[in-house]
Amino acid sequence: MASLTIRKLDDAIRDALRLRAARSGRSVEDEVRVILREAAEGSPSAVSATALRTLPGLAAPSSRRDVGLARVTLIIGGGIAAYKALDLIRRLKERQIDVRCVLTKAAQHFVTPLAASALSHERCYTDLFDPGSEFDAGHIRLARNGDLIVVAPATADLMAKMAHGTADDLASAILLAAGVPILLAPAMNPLMWNNAATKRNVATLQRDGIVMIGPNAGEMAEAGEAGMGRMAEPLEIAQAAERLLRPPRPEPLAGKRMLITAGPTHEPIDPVRYIANRSSGKQGFAIAAAAHAAGADVTLISGPVELGDPAGVRTIHVESARDMLRHVEATLPVDIAIFAAAVADWRVAHEGEQKLKKTATGMPPLQLVENPDILATISHRKEGRPPLVIGFAAETEHLIDNARTKLARKGCDWIVANDVSPSTGVMGGDRNTVHLLIRHGGNIDVDSWPVMTKEEVATELIAHVAKAVVTEALGQPS
Ligand SMILES: Cc1cc2nc3c(=O)[nH]c(=O)nc-3n(C[C@H](O)[C@H](O)[C@H](O)COP(=O)(O)O)c2cc1C
Repeated sequence: MASLTIRKLDDAIRDALRLRAARSGRSVEDEVRVILREAAEGSPSAVSATALRTLPGLAAPSSRRDVGLARVTLIIGGGIAAYKALDLIRRLKERQIDVRCVLTKAAQHFVTPLAASALSHERCYTDLFDPGSEFDAGHIRLARNGDLIVVAPATADLMAKMAHGTADDLASAILLAAGVPILLAPAMNPLMWNNAATKRNVATLQRDGIVMIGPNAGEMAEAGEAGMGRMAEPLEIAQAAERLLRPPRPEPLAGKRMLITAGPTHEPIDPVRYIANRSSGKQGFAIAAAAHAAGADVTLISGPVELGDPAGVRTIHVESARDMLRHVEATLPVDIAIFAAAVADWRVAHEGEQKLKKTATGMPPLQLVENPDILATISHRKEGRPPLVIGFAAETEHLIDNARTKLARKGCDWIVANDVSPSTGVMGGDRNTVHLLIRHGGNIDVDSWPVMTKEEVATELIAHVAKAVVTEALGQPS
């Protein structure tokens, strides 16, 4: 195909194109090819920019959907493709999407409510005037509860009703009262699809923000007939539903390399004893998970903890401060380094090769020496200093003052200060109260956050990092 350059593209159209491409997992260029092909074939399945922007369910996925518990109301229309709707139920359920079926009167000539109930494991609805479900206006409940309505097959008749706001049966009443996005999978004979009335109805529905998948071109059930009008395959419909229910998350840190340290260090005294601290590693692990969710390529270097490695994060397990520093240096260069580990300040000068024994004169003397300061070492590097270095200051008194001093002394860019006095329960606990100190030239801004879970602190910190990456355009790691 000859190459085509489009100049002066409207910003809104460009944004909608990017969004559409991201949803279908294609590059923008490939997406434009699909749209041009559809336009050339006269298919209306290209979703308009307005439709994409106005879909209510797309703005922010609910937390229920985040954890995969989405619910779809599947309306099965009276077309020959209704048998494929039974496969669609399975395809949706294998994606952890609950399905509740509504069959039109015509649909019941093609598939039975029993089959739909058996596959969905839920009661199936067929009648607008059903006393069993309408005692509390069940059709409104069906229209509002759930996250998405899928109509498959969407008959010419159902689309005409939708376009004209008719509500004379359960399916059309639900569609008129819908409070969630609607996905249609049209299926009909090419003559019906190409009819001017159907085209008008399709255009109206697209203007109303209804999303369509298909129809595809291919053979019809009617012997010897082929053309545009075959329902999209159940797998395609399930994927389109999933994209609407769980739109890809923005990944503001995509392409950024991040290094995070976590947990305590263990400084050996002899082969069986060590100096340690009460750090659980939970905060650093939560930050690594949040950074991964934001699209960063994350290496987590952790002291001994009792936590599972975060999914998708390269995790290196170390024991002592010196091990940790060695692995930190080997991981450079990175764009962002967050040092959340509670590194022991001291280690014993002479580690016993054998287990130390009690002596007649009492405890063997333990001479301590200072450990390398990982945060200061990396912050003061002449070469390979990450463009953004963030330290943690765990203090038990004079929190902000100590954190200010630490920020200046260590040479990092930000400090997350938290009060780890025993009364706070922070060490080993699930909540944290932190203050973010950010150095701006000679000034230090202090942002105090309310008490949060460690996951919330992590999400907030990564949001600040992402903002800094976007607005301050951090340089390349050297
Ligand atoms: C054998 C047969 C197959 C049909 N297939 C379709 C079809 O694929 N698409 C369509 O829009 N209508 C089809 N119809 C017509 C619909 O069943 C008819 O318009 C019905 O009123 C639709 O009702 P509903 O929209 O409430 O489900 C078919 C009818 C029959 C008898």
